[in-house]
Amino acid sequence: MNLRFTAQSFLEAKVKKEKITMLTAYDYAMAKLIDACGVEAILIGDSLGMVVQGYDSTLEVTLEDMIYHCKSVARGAKRAMLIGDMPFLTYHISMTEAVRNAGRLVQEGKVHAVKLEGGRERAETVKAIVGAQIPVMGHLGLTPQSVHALGGFKVQGKDEVKAKALIEDALILEEAGVFAIVLEAVPEELAKVITEKLHIPVIGIGAGRYCDGQVLVIHDMLGLYNDFTPKFVKQYADLGACVKEAVGHYIKEVKNQSFPEEKHVFSMDHNLVKMLDDVQGGSYEFNTNCTRLKSLVR
Ligand code: KIV
Repeated sequence: MNLRFTAQSFLEAKVKKEKITMLTAYDYAMAKLIDACGVEAILIGDSLGMVVQGYDSTLEVTLEDMIYHCKSVARGAKRAMLIGDMPFLTYHISMTEAVRNAGRLVQEGKVHAVKLEGGRERAETVKAIVGAQIPVMGHLGLTPQSVHALGGFKVQGKDEVKAKALIEDALILEEAGVFAIVLEAVPEELAKVITEKLHIPVIGIGAGRYCDGQVLVIHDMLGLYNDFTPKFVKQYADLGACVKEAVGHYIKEVKNQSFPEEKHVFSMDHNLVKMLDDVQGGSYEFNTNCTRLKSLVR
């Protein structure tokens, strides 16, 4: 029985009006935890460029980086649908390259779908990747790979022309064959209209309450990354504070020798303990010519 959430399940969830949950993950341990909680989809987002690699945008992330992280997540997640971001310049140059790169994320990274940013300018690329039997998720609104073209990480679709263009882009992507669209940082009213106009689910991040589902960057929602926290983030836990407290405690205990305790140590067989006493007493004969060793134990 296939318990995995699939592109088809996204569509069924929309019909049933069941909200879809998606979170990012970039490694085995976190993917395993999130998967066990029952999230429907895990996005291996190129946000890893910022929250894992420490760059100030996603532009530096390479396909090799993505494959590495997708593989790690795939080993941890058994139930969620895995969606891998296509990084900057891996789908912009030619359709052939785009299909090959999407294929590598599926074949080597073991994801079930890819996500790419952009609207009408990506329609033919979406068709080509979907034509290779790879499900594609769209991404509209604030598309972080366009940070320079957009003039920063800003809310999108705020005037009439831009709002209309966003609605058209969403319809064009649906027509091109994407199974869902991430809509990032747009006014709630606009996101509501787009969600209602489309037959495919709209997964919001900073797009308000009426989307078919929500996605958050796991480091943001757990308080593990605070270089920049957008208004739309809800921090469900402050693991950053937990880490600082635990590490502070560890440093203190190592310094004052209260860690490790007896329960953390391994013991030796009694006869070997005797041998170590002999080594310390200088009466043990080593089977070596190493003069430094001899001088150390004598
Ligand atoms: O890269 C990412 O994590 C994303 C989400 C913000 C949707 O694209």
